[in-house]
Amino acid sequence: MSTFNQFLRSIEVTLPPQPREFPFSVPAFAQLASLEFHPHVTFFVGENGSGKSTLLEAIAGLAGMPTTGGSNNFTRSAADRERPFGNAIKLVRGVRQPKSAFFLRAESFFNVATEIEATGVASSYGPQGLHEQSHGESFLALALHRFRNHGLYLLDEPEAALSPQRQLAFLAIINQLVDGGSQFIIATHSPILLAFPRSCILHFSEAGIEDVAYEKTEHYALTLDFLSNRERYLARLFKD
Ligand SMILES: Nc1ncnc2c1ncn2[C@@H]1O[C@H](COP(=O)(O)OP(=O)(O)O)[C@@H](O)[C@H]1O
Ligand SMILES: [Mg+2]
Repeated sequence: MSTFNQFLRSIEVTLPPQPREFPFSVPAFAQLASLEFHPHVTFFVGENGSGKSTLLEAIAGLAGMPTTGGSNNFTRSAADRERPFGNAIKLVRGVRQPKSAFFLRAESFFNVATEIEATGVASSYGPQGLHEQSHGESFLALALHRFRNHGLYLLDEPEAALSPQRQLAFLAIINQLVDGGSQFIIATHSPILLAFPRSCILHFSEAGIEDVAYEKTEHYALTLDFLSNRERYLARLFKD
């Protein structure tokens, strides 16, 4: 595995003493000593509330990323969220610096669009105003016009905006950017995005954070089984 283009290599954790307060009260972080990132794409998967966003936000904060590309307001709220880990986690960086960086929270994308338009730099995000496009269109416009080679991109559930067809288009964009030396960390529930080959999948659970093969993810296995046995699933779900 080539690590030449890796901007973020790993995090190292110094666990605080018991009793553990948030965020170390989250089971995934209770025994966490370190976590390695893939040089191309690292996926975070796990149940709702398993800690994916908490860690992604902390990494964004530690990496000093322009968290939403927006104003001080945005930067401040992001800094607030990064603090829970305090000095307990350390980011191990590669030798090279990314030429571009972006942290995107799916739920705040509307605000990002507002912010980008308000600051008058909208033209670099594509020919049309981001608000005049649908959620998915503006996300793809952002990825196409703002994401660059040798960039570092942290994305929280980007699939929320994207139809299945657009998720495929986004896979192609990721592939091009990875060819161009970009690195991604993506929290996702999408079995389509998770199929990206040059990646590792980190599963957040009660047991901690573990590497898991694509076919072993619930996203792949359950979706496949559901689509293959839809009637049986529905009959069982609606039984009572
Ligand atoms: N500031 C906070 N204080 C205490 N608990 C929090 C805080 N932020 C999030 N949590 C809790 O931490 C857990 C992980 O949340 P989150 O990282 O958002 O999960 P995910 O992104 O995997 O769905 C959840 O149980 C959530 O309620
Ligand atoms: Mg989340």
